[in-house]
Amino acid sequence: MQAVRDREAIEILKANDRGGYTVPTSRLYPYQWNWDSVFVALGFHTFDKDRAWREIEMLFEGQWDDGMVPHILFRRDDPDYFPGPSVWRAGGAIQSSGHSQPPVAASVVCALVEAGGEEGERRGRSLFDKLLAYHRWFHRHRDPHGKGVIGVVHPWESGRDNSADWDNAMRQVRIAPDLGNYQRRDTAHVDADQRPKQAEYDRFLTLVTFGRDQGWNQDTIAREGQFFVADPGNHFILMRADRDLLRLAERFGKTVEADEIRAWLTASEVGTNLIWNDDVSAFCARDLRSGQFSDAISSAAALVFYAGAGSEEQRALMIDHLHRIMDNVAFGLPSLDPDHARFEPKRYWLGPVWMVMNFMIARGLAEAGQVALAEQIKAGSRQLIEEQGFYEYFDPVTGEGCGGGDFSWTAAMWLAWAGRHGEAAEAA
Ligand code: DGY
Repeated sequence: MQAVRDREAIEILKANDRGGYTVPTSRLYPYQWNWDSVFVALGFHTFDKDRAWREIEMLFEGQWDDGMVPHILFRRDDPDYFPGPSVWRAGGAIQSSGHSQPPVAASVVCALVEAGGEEGERRGRSLFDKLLAYHRWFHRHRDPHGKGVIGVVHPWESGRDNSADWDNAMRQVRIAPDLGNYQRRDTAHVDADQRPKQAEYDRFLTLVTFGRDQGWNQDTIAREGQFFVADPGNHFILMRADRDLLRLAERFGKTVEADEIRAWLTASEVGTNLIWNDDVSAFCARDLRSGQFSDAISSAAALVFYAGAGSEEQRALMIDHLHRIMDNVAFGLPSLDPDHARFEPKRYWLGPVWMVMNFMIARGLAEAGQVALAEQIKAGSRQLIEEQGFYEYFDPVTGEGCGGGDFSWTAAMWLAWAGRHGEAAEAA
């Protein structure tokens, strides 16, 4: 099975290659997505190092002048996806969406550099300033008041579109009266029961329309938009990425930049407390306007270990939650606590297991000394792919593969992590 899945995974990455960048899967997602691409680079790196670097370099070709790396790069128009470039009307050299996505790039670049080799050293060094500009953009525009916690201006910016994390804030979003009769394309490719609901899509588009009407001025969007929510996912992922960027800064002798990054980390440690919800004893999303907490414990909260964040007490309470959650499902880690009223095991980010989340969570748990939990998550991930193949996500109760098939980042996670034995293989 190992050899068969290895071969299939490589074939998927090659088939989804569009000439130096990779689409997440054909038809459903026909463009270059930010965090998909970065994780895909880890997969390519196991059999084609040059191609791995190319993936990330092409993503950064779409970086905006202000440092932002958009969540989608529309290199060519494709009628299979909505909303496409004519809806967003954003971007510079390459047409793009108008906000970002979880900033995993510095962590993956750091892993590729540390995997060794002169070529990796050279290409990592040449990406450093771009990564730094990207992180500066996140700290400036997604934490405009310097609270030390990262917000998202659209659920798509979190990468976890219909997570219960956004429910309270999304209820407050007044749907734009002039949306018209748009046609969703996602439900032409995937069962509607496995995708976000129509009411969520109306709000997703309302937020896009607002950003577009502001000419994608990020200050205005964060200040006046209808949605600005502290996201445990992006907060913890950026903290980890800041630590990895710091490793790169130290490696490349960038002392002034290293001090700047250390200051971000100090602020983030304080800001982490702002997303601790005492009512449920867990990290939760929090509306940055009203201060209202979500009561949902999503898998993003488990990224606290990946970030190396949180107090001893907070971390112990999160471990208790993880044991309880893992005991409730056949395959962990579900994207939403199964005890939550909104849990739906097949609907996108309301329950399904996602390989890239498992990869980051398991790594963080292992680093925190929670080796048994980390191994449980990795073994479950491996079994899901062995039995079902390379789906976008998986039902945590039945194990059934859901969403798109032949999915690039699932293939990449197999090659770089779930299909490998031992720590050494995981380093790259
Ligand atoms: C989609 O279209 O479903 C994407 O998740 C948006 O990034």
